[in-house]
Amino acid sequence: MTQPLTFVVLNAARDDLSEIRTALAADGRGRLLMASDETEQISQNIMRWRPSAVIVMLGTQSEPAPLLIERIAAECPDTMIICASRNASPDLILRSLRSGAREFLRLPVIPEEFKIVLDRTVEFSVGRAETPKKRGRVVAVFSSKGGCGVSFIAANLAAAINKPTVLVDFNLQTGDLDLFLGVEPKFSVTDLVENRARLDDALLHSYLVPHSAKLSLVAAPREAGSAEDIRPEHIFDVIQVLRERYSYIVLDTPHTFDGNTLAALDQSDDILLVLSVDIPSIRSAQRALQIFDRLSYPRHKVRVVINRWSKQIDPELQRVERYIGDRVVGHVPSDYRAVVSSINLGQPLVESQPASVIAREIKRIAATITGSTEGHIEQESRSRRMKSIFRRSTASESLSLRETLDKA
Ligand SMILES: Nc1ncnc2c1ncn2[C@@H]1O[C@H](COP(=O)(O)OP(=O)(O)OP(=O)(O)O)[C@@H](O)[C@H]1O
Ligand SMILES: [Mg+2]
Repeated sequence: MTQPLTFVVLNAARDDLSEIRTALAADGRGRLLMASDETEQISQNIMRWRPSAVIVMLGTQSEPAPLLIERIAAECPDTMIICASRNASPDLILRSLRSGAREFLRLPVIPEEFKIVLDRTVEFSVGRAETPKKRGRVVAVFSSKGGCGVSFIAANLAAAINKPTVLVDFNLQTGDLDLFLGVEPKFSVTDLVENRARLDDALLHSYLVPHSAKLSLVAAPREAGSAEDIRPEHIFDVIQVLRERYSYIVLDTPHTFDGNTLAALDQSDDILLVLSVDIPSIRSAQRALQIFDRLSYPRHKVRVVINRWSKQIDPELQRVERYIGDRVVGHVPSDYRAVVSSINLGQPLVESQPASVIAREIKRIAATITGSTEGHIEQESRSRRMKSIFRRSTASESLSLRETLDKA
């Protein structure tokens, strides 16, 4: 057990909390992350921090907070639930175990019993660590041309996915997803990269900025220069860490085929190629599709989203599928006013206007992504992927990519 145990305590009276605090300090194996009686706030933090255990304090008359316990058990299976009470009646113990708790702690704390509960928490954590790691699905939103709506679609897609999701702003020089989500990040991708070797859950979560119970952001650095040392293998490591903890990782990627972007695209299970309906954008999407073919990405990995769709577009351009092929999965309508006001508000449109046509289409695209089978994604070995990333970041490969673009 290399990491310390982490605890969150819910609903503790001051005396009970101070007993638990003292017992934890005396044992030395665990630390208290937070104690509160604000159920909603604490449950959001539990979803984000995924502590080793949550101690839910039960009053003498209370039900064992069944909804919260069930929710934690379902959404944070790696967190052990411990109910605690001064009333250790068989009935209360039984009800708490039935609702999903794994241990019952009698109060006042009896040191020997407390030690047994901590031993079981260690066993639970070790058992969980040995089970196969979660493999979240990575969805990159990309366009080889700027201004097509990549950030808008990435932010809204991430907000529309109804599972623990992290949105990563890989626009290391100019990223502004914090504005799209209305959050004020203190840390960025650079901090994640610099500390990637010692990222435990608590440190990782301190670098993320929460937008909602389900969605957090890894922001782009504020100072463009601070990301200069980020290399493809760092991007690889960061995505790897995130996919072990989140169900979905949505990437807002730059509009170039440099080594870092290729590392992100390589690692992705899905690429949403965004284009708007104008000739330069369609042509640049055609070229991107050719490059993806050259990179041997399977066809099902790359899907096309047409943004700023409108019936007023030239009828010839409306048949954009003719140029792009059969991979179009969505047509996001054009509504400049709605989009700009959602960006200015710092609230994704899928949240601020969930019934709007744009929001419904993005939610439909999200459902297509989340509903798709994961088994067909080819599982290349880490070393093979790493090799391909390094090979592509060499000068000769950049040159041949450029040739492909010139020919397209
Ligand atoms: N469906 C839409 N309807 C109308 N306007 C849109 C739509 N989607 C995006 N826009 C507008 O297009 C502009 C560019 O969007 P966004 O910043 O998401 O694109 P991007 O591809 O990330 O651009 P950048 O090259 O700056 O990274 C924004 O001002 C946004 O308001
Ligand atoms: Mg952008």
